[in-house]
Amino acid sequence: MIRDTLHLKAPGNWINDPNGFICYRGIYHLFYQHFPYAPQWGTMHWGHAVSEDLVHWEHLGVAVFPTKSYDRNGIFSGSALEVDGDLYLYYSAVRYLEEEEEDIHHAKNGHFETSQALIISGDGCHFDNFGQKRQVIPVIRDRKVGDAVNTRDPKVWKSGDWYYMVLGSTWKGESGKAVFFKSGDAIHWEYAGQYQHPAFGTILECPDLFQVGADYVFIGSSIHLMGEGLKYSDASICFPAEFQEGSCRLELPDKYQMVDYGGDLYAPQTNLDKEGRRVLAAWMRMPKAVESEDRGIWNGMMCLPRVVESAGGHIYFRVHPETDQFFSRGLEACSQMDMRKPFRLKTALEEGEGLDIGGYRITVKEGRVTADRSEVFAGLDGYRLVNRTPALGSRIQLDIFVEPNLIEIFVNDGEYVLSNVVYGLKHEISGFTGRIFTGG
Ligand code: FRU
Repeated sequence: MIRDTLHLKAPGNWINDPNGFICYRGIYHLFYQHFPYAPQWGTMHWGHAVSEDLVHWEHLGVAVFPTKSYDRNGIFSGSALEVDGDLYLYYSAVRYLEEEEEDIHHAKNGHFETSQALIISGDGCHFDNFGQKRQVIPVIRDRKVGDAVNTRDPKVWKSGDWYYMVLGSTWKGESGKAVFFKSGDAIHWEYAGQYQHPAFGTILECPDLFQVGADYVFIGSSIHLMGEGLKYSDASICFPAEFQEGSCRLELPDKYQMVDYGGDLYAPQTNLDKEGRRVLAAWMRMPKAVESEDRGIWNGMMCLPRVVESAGGHIYFRVHPETDQFFSRGLEACSQMDMRKPFRLKTALEEGEGLDIGGYRITVKEGRVTADRSEVFAGLDGYRLVNRTPALGSRIQLDIFVEPNLIEIFVNDGEYVLSNVVYGLKHEISGFTGRIFTGG
C-alpha cells in the first residue's frame, strides 16, 4: 500500500476534500474525496488512510463507493463520529437527474439532487457498502429549509444527550447558508434552524462548528467569495462564533479571517487529536497533476495538520507538536540540505527584508508577509501569483515548511498561515539567515 509522510497525497489520480477525520480506537482515520480512475474530478468515492501520529500515513484504498440509487453519482464530503463503539460516516449522497453524454461523471445543466446518508462500520476497517448504508435526510424540497441540489457536507458532533449536524446550503443558488439538524440517536434527524451570512458566497460548503476552550469557532468554504475574476474564487474562512445548543442559534461577526492567506487551501475539516487538541486538515488545490514513481499521475494533497486555537477574538492555526517533533534534526548550513526532501526554515524578517526559496520569494512589505510564486508556477494562467497576510508588527517570525510541491508559512506562531502549491522549485536558497531542520 502507498505511504505518505507529513502531507497526505492522492494515492494516484485525484483527491479533494478531507472527510471523516477522526481518532477512532487510538488510530487517526482520514478519508478523502477520491476519483480513482483519472487525475481529475469525477464520480466521488471516499478513499481511506490511517496514521498513528498524523505524520506517517498509510493508504488503505477505497472505503465508500456508490451502491444505492440515492448515491449512484457520488459520495460527497462528510464527517465521522464514534457512536457506541461503531464508526459512523455521514456523507452527502448525489444522484444525477441528467448526465453529460460524453462524461457521465458530470451532471448536465446542474441537474442533480443531494440527500444525506450514513454508513456504519463496526471496526473502521470494513465498510459494507451494500448492507450498512442508509439515507438519513432525504432530498430537501422545502426551499425555506434548504436546497434540493446544493445542500451537503454534513459535519456531525455530540454534545450532552444530543447529536448535531451542520450542512452547507444555499438560498436559490444566490446566497450561502448553514442549515442545522438535531438527533437523539444519530440516525433520525430533525430540522433545527439555519443561518445566513454575506461571506457565505453563493453556496456554503463544508461548514464546521466547534468549541476550543470556552469559545466557538465557525469555519466554512464559500463559493464565489472572491470577485477578482481569477481562478479559485471559492475560499475558506473562519469566525469566532456564538452558538446556542438546543436552539441551534448561530451568530457570527461581520469580519472574518481566511483560514490560509495563500489562496490554495480549501474545504478544511477539524476534529480532536489524541490529546484533545482541535486539529484541522484541508485540501491543497493543485492546478496541474504531477507524476511520481510510487503512484503514477496524481493531483491533490492535504496541508500539514494545524492546531486551532482561539484567543482575544482571533483564531490561530499552529504547527502540530507531531510535525514539530518530526523536524528535530538541525543543520548547520543550507548546503547540507537535500531540497528533494521536506525541510523547515525558521527565521525572522523586518520591513523590506526577504528570502528566496528556490524561486519562491517571501518579503515583508507594509508589515504584510508577501509571497510571490511567479517563478515557480510557470505556464499556469489565471491564478493569483502574489499573496499577502494582513498587516502585522515590525518584526515577524516565520516557520516555513517546504517540500517539492508545497510551501507553508506559519507566521508569528500561527497568527496567520500562508501556503502555496508550487512547481519546479530550484535547488537554491538565498537571503536566508536562521535555523534549518530536516526530518526523519
Ligand atoms: C468542496 C466540495 C464539497 C463536495 C465535494 C465534492 O470542495 O465541492 O462541497 O461535497 O467537494 O467533491
